[in-house]
Amino acid sequence: MTFDRKIKIAPSILASDFANFGAECEAIEAEGADWVHVDVMDGHFVPNITFGPATCAAIRPHIKGVMDVHLMIAPVDPYIDAFAQAGADVISAHVEAGPHIHRTLQAIRGAGVKAGVALNPGTPASAVAHLLDLTDLICVMTVNPGFGGQKFIDMSAKVKELRAMIGDRPVHIEIDGGVDVNTAPLVAQAGADVLVAGSAVFKGGSVSNPGPYGENIRAIRAAAEGVYV
Ligand code: DX5
Ligand code: ZN
Repeated sequence: MTFDRKIKIAPSILASDFANFGAECEAIEAEGADWVHVDVMDGHFVPNITFGPATCAAIRPHIKGVMDVHLMIAPVDPYIDAFAQAGADVISAHVEAGPHIHRTLQAIRGAGVKAGVALNPGTPASAVAHLLDLTDLICVMTVNPGFGGQKFIDMSAKVKELRAMIGDRPVHIEIDGGVDVNTAPLVAQAGADVLVAGSAVFKGGSVSNPGPYGENIRAIRAAAEGVYV
């Protein structure tokens, strides 16, 4: 994984066909996805349950690029090795998921994986001020985590603050929740480079008709890059 600040579109398979993850990952990559975003929910930290490390391991061979695993679970630490073994390239943990996020980020890097830290909408940028040298990605939630298809909450001011705090460090800013052609420009302008999108990528398409995935990905990328098509 090399670092750059170009716009990267990361479709969330939360909005894909759960009976067909392998084929869905192959379809979105073929249609231009940069990263694949994998949402893990435990029914405890968030009110919804998705899947765990065994499913991530099963999905892995179907992804050529970056597998970006977003853990919405508490506790995190007992499961880090399992998600690392499953082949995650990035593992993000929530700052709100426990009292020891610093230790969690050390453990993720210790497992040989890029370490991400996620912030709920109610959590200020200052929560990561002392974590900037321990993290490879800051995930700014623009919905309260737990479900796809929710309305975007504008966190542009927080993104700007984080972008200034990061300076020259090789740290990605990722946006997660309600990203579409209308909201992508706001956060891209503020300094985000990884845009997660579930509903806005998968709408209108399927594994047997993946063309709309490509159209959706290109439209979000163009909007974020300031070129309206
Ligand atoms: C929310 C998840 C997401 C989100 C993306 O808890 O982390 O990745 O569902 O889905 P959309 O783009 O539909 O908001
Ligand atoms: Zn997510």
